[in-house]
Amino acid sequence: MVKSVFIEGADGTGKSTQIGLLKKLFEERKVKVLFLREPGGSGYYEALREFYLQSKHEHPPISDALLSAAGRAANIIETKQALASGKWVVTDRAYPSSYVYQSVQGVPLADIRAINAFALGEFDYDIKILLDVSVEVAEQRINQSGAEKDHWESQGKRFFEKIRQTYLDIAKSENCHIIDASGDAASIHQQIIALIDL
Ligand code: TYD
Repeated sequence: MVKSVFIEGADGTGKSTQIGLLKKLFEERKVKVLFLREPGGSGYYEALREFYLQSKHEHPPISDALLSAAGRAANIIETKQALASGKWVVTDRAYPSSYVYQSVQGVPLADIRAINAFALGEFDYDIKILLDVSVEVAEQRINQSGAEKDHWESQGKRFFEKIRQTYLDIAKSENCHIIDASGDAASIHQQIIALIDL
């Protein structure tokens, strides 16, 4: 049976590496799959991505919550179509990113849930995974990657501590599998494989 999966985690938890390994796995096993990412994924949400990540404009958190939910709605439509056509769906970030980042920025969680209820409808993911590492490890990984810091990554350490804690809280309320992602990529990959059980 095909399933929908999200992989969540703060910046620097190694999501991109794990998504890359999953892409290879699906290819090797010749299993049909749609990979999405947020912000982005579907054509509609992908077109919003750059704006979303830019710091040129002021980003009122409530606006970001609404904008990401608008994009997410397009991803959910694509996700349902893919599942109906016999494809797995794996997404790099999903609604928990809004619950976490926008609530840390001050939008009440109940409001974020209400906004996302429009985007999600009755839909929810079959397998929900959170990658968790300490803020220190995440920071090291971001610095080592040498990538230019985006609007979010240039926030301070306390912000990231809050993000991590909120992720852990949300993961519990959303029944996510929490993976300690401080180890090596291969062993984390094995844990993910065990959870998705292709
Ligand atoms: P991105 O560079 O895609 O992060 P990563 O590669 O680590 O997944 O940036 C996404 C950023 O946007 C990330 O810092 C979290 C933030 N974000 C929100 O604040 N709300 C959302 O709903 C989503 C999907 C992302």
